[in-house]
Amino acid sequence: MADETGLQLRGSAPERYEEYVAPLMAPFVEAVVDAVDLFPGAAVLDLACGTGFAARAAAARVGPAGRVSGADVNDGMLRVAAANAPRMYPDIEFTAAPADKLPYPDATFDRVVCQQGAQFFTDLDAAFAEAARVTRPGGRLAATAWADMRRSPYFEVQYRALTDHAGQETAADYAKAFSCTADRLTAALGAAGFHDVTAYEVTFGIALPPLPGFAPGHLSALPWGQAVLDTGGPDALARAAADIREHLADRTGPDGVTTLPFTAVLVTGAR
Ligand SMILES: C[S@@+](CC[C@H](N)C(=O)[O-])C[C@H]1O[C@@H](n2cnc3c(N)ncnc32)[C@H](O)[C@@H]1O
Repeated sequence: MADETGLQLRGSAPERYEEYVAPLMAPFVEAVVDAVDLFPGAAVLDLACGTGFAARAAAARVGPAGRVSGADVNDGMLRVAAANAPRMYPDIEFTAAPADKLPYPDATFDRVVCQQGAQFFTDLDAAFAEAARVTRPGGRLAATAWADMRRSPYFEVQYRALTDHAGQETAADYAKAFSCTADRLTAALGAAGFHDVTAYEVTFGIALPPLPGFAPGHLSALPWGQAVLDTGGPDALARAAADIREHLADRTGPDGVTTLPFTAVLVTGAR
């Protein structure tokens, strides 16, 4: 964990991602995995798997006869994913691959999940076309992407801190994570050949770990927080994290617990 000031961040950014992003992703991982109705023995792809939150949740559900693969472009994330894969059945195979050029034969998977990856794809249509190609007839896909930032106050406050401590350009890049609308996602799924496409919003109230450690730790796990570190060093990161805490002071209880809503769009489609 980061210390009280956030000045002694441990581990690599992907290791910190695994630690600090987990509490925010956990309920959405369950929602995206629930949405594809996994069954024992299913073959599942976690697209843009990062450190493997959804892949691990899927592996627990498909059991020993199942098969889980994770694909991502970031080697550092994949290394942490492999290190954290459960030494239980089924093995999860993590592969470096871009979403729009997947190294799997046609119709390999019964289910595809994509948890908070779609908004980062350079070519969303090509990525969903590839997802459609590797999904078996009768198979299903579910994907989440953060809704508009105003629906998740923590991200709004983090955006303000990035604007102040990393500059407009970095903050604008961060804002892209919240700019992929339900309409854009469903249009891309339909164009890729998925049918029975649905979209709905999911909101969870999440009790954040104590902000003195969480705010700098979480920020430092993200590429935009890394930009703060690169330009201003640990002091700048500590100041940005202090601003986040300050902005959330009126939402933090006397026990130090900050509970906030987080909202994502969840889309599904069938092949
Ligand atoms: C916010 S992280 C989400 C990771 C993981 N799915 C999770 O739930 O934590 C976004 C991930 O998308 C990956 N990514 C971005 N563009 C990609 C692409 N074109 N192909 C595959 N992965 C991509 C990044 O490397 C990163 O791991």
